[in-house]
Amino acid sequence: MKGIVLAGGSGTRLRPLTGTLSKQILPVYDKPMIYYPLSVLMLAGIRDIQLIAAKDHLEMFRSLLGDGSRLGISLDYAEQDEPRGIAEAFLIGEEHIGDGPVTLILGDNVFHGPGFSTLLATAMDRLDGCELFGYPVQDPQRYGVAEIDASGRLVSLAEKPRRPRSNLAVTGLYMYDSDVVEIARGLTPSARGELEITDINNAYLAQGRARLNELGRGFAWLDMGTHDSLLQAGQYVQLLEQRQGERIACVEEIALRMGFITPDQAYALGAELGSSSYGQYVMDMARRAPALASPAA
Ligand code: G1P
Repeated sequence: MKGIVLAGGSGTRLRPLTGTLSKQILPVYDKPMIYYPLSVLMLAGIRDIQLIAAKDHLEMFRSLLGDGSRLGISLDYAEQDEPRGIAEAFLIGEEHIGDGPVTLILGDNVFHGPGFSTLLATAMDRLDGCELFGYPVQDPQRYGVAEIDASGRLVSLAEKPRRPRSNLAVTGLYMYDSDVVEIARGLTPSARGELEITDINNAYLAQGRARLNELGRGFAWLDMGTHDSLLQAGQYVQLLEQRQGERIACVEEIALRMGFITPDQAYALGAELGSSSYGQYVMDMARRAPALASPAA
């Protein structure tokens, strides 16, 4: 399974924060936003990842994350010169995807909750077409909206409908088989001028090959498109981290728990971060490594 993080767009709704910075590099409490989606792919066991961003921002991501080898993953970078829609990721990433399955995650989505890695593993195992992840929200008209029947089967999908048929938003995490590239090639831009991910999902649905995994109560799915939602996401992470003493989306910890790096390598990464509390956490966690059993979120 290959992975793509789409960190495109110019972050217009977050100006002036995004005057010179990519939105997906902004701080979400103690770490850059991109760590959150990256950690989801790593938790799913995906190690071959492409990061797609605007040309002006690629260098920032490169200097932050390099080729990924320090985290035991492989990262490469590709450019989306204009924000032409989420589905364009499959055209840009065609070579990276090759002829296998791919998971796409949006660079501004935070997922956090119990049982998430099991859910990801289950979805990956049963993938036959496409696996989507739905989350109940109060304002579904802002998102792709999924309608399910009484048995949980997906029956319809609509992009930002004026009259949503349910409160289930389709989150920015998508798993596809290799047909996705061919389907993306056949798309035409929507009224807002974008290649819509919902059109891809509808193509799978029409073939009876789209499934929805519900992320229910107790789970957090946050997007960070506005000043308020960015701050709220940071406060959510701060609250949980301070209360439990465990970090969310600590990529060094996940790399260690997933067996991508050794405790010594993890310790060295923490030591480089030196005096920050994040660096201390990574070093402490690496020292306790033999006692770590299950993947963290
Ligand atoms: C996009 C998708 C939408 C999805 C959302 C998740 O919306 O088009 O289907 O629900 O991401 O974050 P956009 O960010 O383009 O408004």
